[in-house]
Amino acid sequence: MVFLVTGGAGFIGRWVVKNLLLKEKEVVVLDNLSNARKENLAEFSDNSNLLELIIDNIINKKIVESLFEKYKFSVCLHLAAQINVQESLDFPEKAFENNVIGTYNILESARKYNTKVVLIGTCMAYDLADSNIAISETHPVKPASPYAGSKVAAEEIAMSYYYGLNLPVVILRPFNTYGPFQKINMEGGVVSIFISRKLKNEKLLIYGDGTQTRDLLYVEDCADFIVKAAENENCIGEIINGGIGKDISINDLALMIVGDRSRIEHVKHHHPQSEIMKLVCDNRKAKKLLKWEPSTFLQEGISKLEKWIRENEW
Ligand SMILES: NC(=O)c1ccc[n+]([C@@H]2O[C@H](COP(=O)([O-])OP(=O)(O)OC[C@H]3O[C@@H](n4cnc5c(N)ncnc54)[C@H](O)[C@@H]3O)[C@@H](O)[C@H]2O)c1
Repeated sequence: MVFLVTGGAGFIGRWVVKNLLLKEKEVVVLDNLSNARKENLAEFSDNSNLLELIIDNIINKKIVESLFEKYKFSVCLHLAAQINVQESLDFPEKAFENNVIGTYNILESARKYNTKVVLIGTCMAYDLADSNIAISETHPVKPASPYAGSKVAAEEIAMSYYYGLNLPVVILRPFNTYGPFQKINMEGGVVSIFISRKLKNEKLLIYGDGTQTRDLLYVEDCADFIVKAAENENCIGEIINGGIGKDISINDLALMIVGDRSRIEHVKHHHPQSEIMKLVCDNRKAKKLLKWEPSTFLQEGISKLEKWIRENEW
């Protein structure tokens, strides 16, 4: 049983690889390093179960085909994607090429070998929710950026391979994920950015009024969610949310991290039209179907991440 992890050198991908290697699975990584570094996988360089790191592009159909031919993967955990919302608003084509065409290439090869595809979607697919509603998988979809639109398109294409071609597919929608190895630039997550600014004695900048909320998932819990879905046969054909089930406003998050209101500043939002004001996950389906439970709560996750950023001078 060989597992393919696309985007496996990236932030969440390297934790998925770690989780699989700890379970002594054989893993191949395909990543073009457009938003990652080879060093993210350095911890596993002596692990013989990491069979290969292929630095190439999922848009390259021939490469994808030859890889599937070589390894006849049992499962493909498909994380490779263009993830930057602002960039997708500026250059929608890149999101379309990477997230739609790239996913199509994976699906086409997967169907030759009946490879199970675990497609990592996103909570950004969802429409705005009322203030007291946790978002379940039946909540309406309304992609507010080409990033979200391309991810929803990838999900729909994957489900068409499930319904029309009997390909084993599962769609996962993780909520905002944070932890070590996440970038601290605009493509990174808010928690990493805030901690790093705190450590540099810079002000924490909040876009808009800061009342927008996020359900923040620690990255090892996210990887566990993804690997549990890869291993579970009951979830084929399903869409499943992953989040802790509790949200926090960006104002409260900033205060929790820096502990001093005078070090927080509100600035003009870059793309208010693509902001989702309230995101809290209804995770009951994942708990029931996958027997998955997040185990790291926010304060603990922030402490772990801060320690890691200090030690790694990220
Ligand atoms: N970070 C989050 O909060 C979050 C939340 C929900 C869903 N997701 C999804 O999880 C997945 C991983 O996200 P991440 O946060 O780890 O981002 P990331 O950018 O660190 O990971 C994506 C990886 O894919 C690679 N990649 C991009 N385009 C590629 C291509 N054409 N060919 C090969 N490799 C390519 C990048 O180099 C990177 O290593 C994405 O599909 C993203 O949409 C992320």
